[in-house]
Amino acid sequence: MNNEAMISVFGSFVGDEEITNVTTCMKSQWMGFGRQVDDFEQKYQRKFHLPTFAMVDSGSNALFMAVTLLDLPPRSEIIVPSFTWVSCAQAVILAGHIPVFCDVDLHTMNVRANDIQTHITDKTAAVMVVHYAGLAVDMDPILALGYPVIEDAAHAVDSTYHGQPCGSIGDVGIFSYDAVKNLTVGEGGGITARDPIRIERAKVMRYCGIGKSGFDAAINTTGGKARWWEYNIKEPFIKMLPTNIAANIGLAQLERIDALQLRRKEIWQIYQRELNHIPGLIIPPDASEGDRHSYFTYCIRVPQRDELAHYLLDHRIYTTLRYHPLHLNPLYGQTNVRLSNCETLNEDALSIPIHPRMSDEDLDRVISSIKRFYL
Ligand SMILES: Cc1ncc(COP(=O)(O)O)c(C=O)c1O
Repeated sequence: MNNEAMISVFGSFVGDEEITNVTTCMKSQWMGFGRQVDDFEQKYQRKFHLPTFAMVDSGSNALFMAVTLLDLPPRSEIIVPSFTWVSCAQAVILAGHIPVFCDVDLHTMNVRANDIQTHITDKTAAVMVVHYAGLAVDMDPILALGYPVIEDAAHAVDSTYHGQPCGSIGDVGIFSYDAVKNLTVGEGGGITARDPIRIERAKVMRYCGIGKSGFDAAINTTGGKARWWEYNIKEPFIKMLPTNIAANIGLAQLERIDALQLRRKEIWQIYQRELNHIPGLIIPPDASEGDRHSYFTYCIRVPQRDELAHYLLDHRIYTTLRYHPLHLNPLYGQTNVRLSNCETLNEDALSIPIHPRMSDEDLDRVISSIKRFYL
């Protein structure tokens, strides 16, 4: 039995500041949606230079909201890369549309304009892109196709494309702050849009389509609203409110995100150097000149991928594949479509540990175990 601690593939870091903020929040007896959400929204928007921003309760829900915000005709086709998390397809279906899966580039693992082009029909109404691992998608050729673009920047907090923050380049963009993301609040998400009207609407939608709370109406109205408990329901929507607890964790994370990113970058660069010369192992690409990577996941391509994963697990190193291509899932009825790059990645890609809690010893263990397996 190997008693070494398991090295996790993903992870976040929270410290005393997050704990203090949460304790203060709980002692205030206001744990749900409140002022600290506004505070987080303002600071997050400023920190990442976003045009607009609203916090919601998860990246998955932000995706559903993003698709809804485009107001597409029912049963529109939205082209989605197959190499992504299930929420991308679920959001499209739940909003009443049809996800049409496309391939990605083998090298960047990102969708390209020509991957999208081959799936365009007269029902195509929008395109979804995913900045896989935190590497920016080449957005210009995709924008040039002329369709509304939803940007899934769940991995790409802190990533940029040609100097612009990922998430803010298309029409609507989303972020995830789940437990293993670069910036975590436990579970949470965010949404941005170029058009501020969309984000005003998102803030109404996230509270069951009502927007303002009765309490706000009561304390903010100067005599005008006699019955502050009455609703003016704007549209049918589900509840996606973030909590003050989550916002308080986020506020502390914003203070440390630069340090967390530095540690991710350091690990990334050591992998790039140490794994570069293993025969058959393909390291992931760095960001293009002028772009910034978020280093969310480090995904290698290797011969004998399954054997390596099992060998590493036997040595208490947890790895995984992000993602099992969506078109291979019978639920979506597209298993007859061949997306050869996604299918190649399904056989040879592996995410190995990268996160800010990894010690130098953990990093050495991962590198030496991979070298031992191949050399
Ligand atoms: C690419 C991508 N999109 C969306 C999401 C959904 O985010 P959340 O976990 O906050 O719902 C994830 C989560 O891992 C993701 O990886």
